[in-house]
Amino acid sequence: MPLTGRWTLTRYLIEQRRRYPQASGELNALILDVSLACKALARIVSRGPLGAAMPAGGEINVQGEVQKPLDVLSNEVFVRMNEWNGHLGGMASEEMEQPSQIPASYPRGKYLLVFDPLDGSSNIDVNVSVGSIFSILRAPASVVESGRDVTEADFLQPGATQVAAGYAIYGPAAQLVLTVGDGVAVFTLDPDLAEFVLTQANVRVPVDTQEFAINSSNARFWEPPVKRYVDECLAGKPGPRGKDFNMRWIASMVAEAHRILMRGGVFLYPRDTKDPSKPGRLRLLYEANPIGFVMEQAGGRASTGRQPMLGVLPTGLHQRIGLVFGSKNEVERIERYHREPPANEAPAPLFATRSLFRD
Ligand code: F6P
Ligand code: MN
Repeated sequence: MPLTGRWTLTRYLIEQRRRYPQASGELNALILDVSLACKALARIVSRGPLGAAMPAGGEINVQGEVQKPLDVLSNEVFVRMNEWNGHLGGMASEEMEQPSQIPASYPRGKYLLVFDPLDGSSNIDVNVSVGSIFSILRAPASVVESGRDVTEADFLQPGATQVAAGYAIYGPAAQLVLTVGDGVAVFTLDPDLAEFVLTQANVRVPVDTQEFAINSSNARFWEPPVKRYVDECLAGKPGPRGKDFNMRWIASMVAEAHRILMRGGVFLYPRDTKDPSKPGRLRLLYEANPIGFVMEQAGGRASTGRQPMLGVLPTGLHQRIGLVFGSKNEVERIERYHREPPANEAPAPLFATRSLFRD
């Protein structure tokens, strides 16, 4: 396909910026450096076992999870591609316990970059799609004015404050999905030009769906509203939902999010009772918030089950949280189930349907 008539990521960013004549172009430049990191990773990942960083094994990271050589390399790629450009006050990532400081040899800037450099990396060994997730926040004024080192507290901003967010998916094609707060655009990596080319603008997540994604091996740890929701989906056509549902679980959130962005669906990794020290599996700052921003910008919804994800005030850099996202009506239903009392708690007789007070 010739490029004629197609927009590159660079052009998309410039056209977006024209709507803000006062914008300096720094955000655009930063996003292009993030996209370069994603291009580098797309290449590395596509080499599979032929690549240098593929030996099995690995260390345990700050999350208590296996950190593979490719996780370490991906983190390094993100840091090195973004530390020099002068647009960042600091960075934080799944793979680094503490925020990473911009080296003294480079200028510091007004944004913060938060990322999961290789999401779903346990899938690498089996050649299933993985991805990178990123979130761009404004650095607090005190960082910008003084150029001081960043602290964990500087990153603890609600998702609603994100300036831009997105993910790259390394699948059959490598794609970059981006929001700068004006809808969601999908870019596909043209391997000949090594450019991300706009292939879908203003993506919308269908508001209804018949597809859900959850790791049902955790069923015995689910809270009642989640159990109710899944039971009703499984009951299918004769059940309360009156329709059959399909289930998917890739165990690679980026791949799951992308499927839902493209054709609708709902994803749940809810808070459960499996390990009381972990209120959910996925991380707020570099998984739930950027995916949540993308979903909301595409007309979908993201929630903890109890409150909108983007309204959560973070308390820790690596904080975990229950995450539900996807088709709006379905996420709202799950939120409603969390508000309603469990079905086995009989309503007070005065307010029962057959009572004096029914209307
Ligand atoms: O980063 C965490 C992650 O790999 C996600 O990409 C994915 O959705 C989830 O973990 C899979 O979890 P589980 O192994 O419990 O299915
Ligand atoms: Mn991850």
